[in-house]
Amino acid sequence: MSIVVSALKEEQPHEKRVAIDPEVTKRLVKAGMKVLIEKGAGEASYYNDDSYTKAGAEVVDRQTALAQGNIIAVINLPSDDTLNALQSGQVLMGLLSSLIKPDKMQQLADKKVSALSFELLPRTISRAQTMDVLSSQASIAGYKAALVASDIYPKYFPMMITAAGTVKPAKVLVLGTGVAGLQAIGTAKRLGAIVSGYDVRPASKGEVESLGATFMTSSVSNGAGSGGYARALTPEETKAQQEELAGFIADNDVIITTAQVPGHKPPLMVPQSSVDNAKPGTVFIDLAASDLGGNVAGSKPDETVTTDNQVMVVGGNNLASELSNSASQLFAKNVQAVINAMVDKDGNLSIDPKDDVFSGLTATTGGEIINARLREALKLEPLPEDQPASDAPDSAASDQAAQPAGEKGAK
Ligand code: NAI
Repeated sequence: MSIVVSALKEEQPHEKRVAIDPEVTKRLVKAGMKVLIEKGAGEASYYNDDSYTKAGAEVVDRQTALAQGNIIAVINLPSDDTLNALQSGQVLMGLLSSLIKPDKMQQLADKKVSALSFELLPRTISRAQTMDVLSSQASIAGYKAALVASDIYPKYFPMMITAAGTVKPAKVLVLGTGVAGLQAIGTAKRLGAIVSGYDVRPASKGEVESLGATFMTSSVSNGAGSGGYARALTPEETKAQQEELAGFIADNDVIITTAQVPGHKPPLMVPQSSVDNAKPGTVFIDLAASDLGGNVAGSKPDETVTTDNQVMVVGGNNLASELSNSASQLFAKNVQAVINAMVDKDGNLSIDPKDDVFSGLTATTGGEIINARLREALKLEPLPEDQPASDAPDSAASDQAAQPAGEKGAK
């Protein structure tokens, strides 16, 4: 019997992506798998049901996709109704917000459903790079952030020399120059803006400068944490950072923020005083906007707030979804890479909890919570030491709420 892979229609109102596209459908079918797509699942990404049928999938109702799939691929954590419908032995994979909602992972463990949560992927292992949803989606979000900013900013981005006069180029500041930030810098540069970047990881200086942008030095020393990520700053460092950034923010026209620290809520880099002091027409795009708070005071997920001083604060938590077609295409490739690693050439599906990639990526399998960070969040004893640890960045620091890693602007 062949492995059945199902893709569900997303339930969140702002979500336009789909976890499997027709191209990946074709590849899975070619590899001997059966693909079930919930009716209308790809519509908001401009993949209609016909395109899936042509690629070899069956378009079915939700109940069938849920009941028959050995592997169920989603973008976001499904509703309780959907989770309750899952059965023992099925594999759920997607951006499952496992660190924000560890209790849901425990529920799945109790039902012996396996859950692979892309936020948990050990991204620095080279074999995992094709599976890296956070990078594929963050890159799209960074690109879109620059486009959204240029769209609502009430002036030109490039310098314009016209018969009627000269318009100065926009000044764009990108706070947090990881995957999303670097893409935002590159895009804003291509649109003709004068761009600078800021990060607490010294390693990002060279990356920012290689894109032709200016790197603003931070007073924070040793801002790098483990696994290539930033560490959480102390309250004193945060205050000093807010103060040193205040002048830069007031001097810029567009501020794109992307800063995240795994295991923590996003750092507040732009306090209310900096929003209040911004020039009228200033645009803030906060890719870290979340219900837990974002990088910019007053940002609201999925909303644009215009303040009394005529500053626009865009909650850019879901910008990858706005490029639904490309985002789904890349997400589906990441999903396919994970499936390829789970299904052998004879069509047997297995998850090896001792594998260095799957020990991180797997929230739960065989009724057990596998991921070390998640075990810590659920206050479970660590698994025996022979199990390879996931590359838990800064996992020791769990004093604050877990960040919405899956919603990191692709997040
Ligand atoms: P992220 O989404 O966790 O954070 C975004 C950026 O915000 C990071 O550059 C971080 O240093 C910065 N940041 C956090 N707190 C800050 C603060 N208080 N002030 C200023 N900046 C702050 O990071 P992302 O984009 O996921 O990547 C982090 C690192 O991991 C990068 O060095 C990236 O190149 C690396 N990476 C490596 C991969 C690999 O080896 N295959 C794959 C993906 C990322």
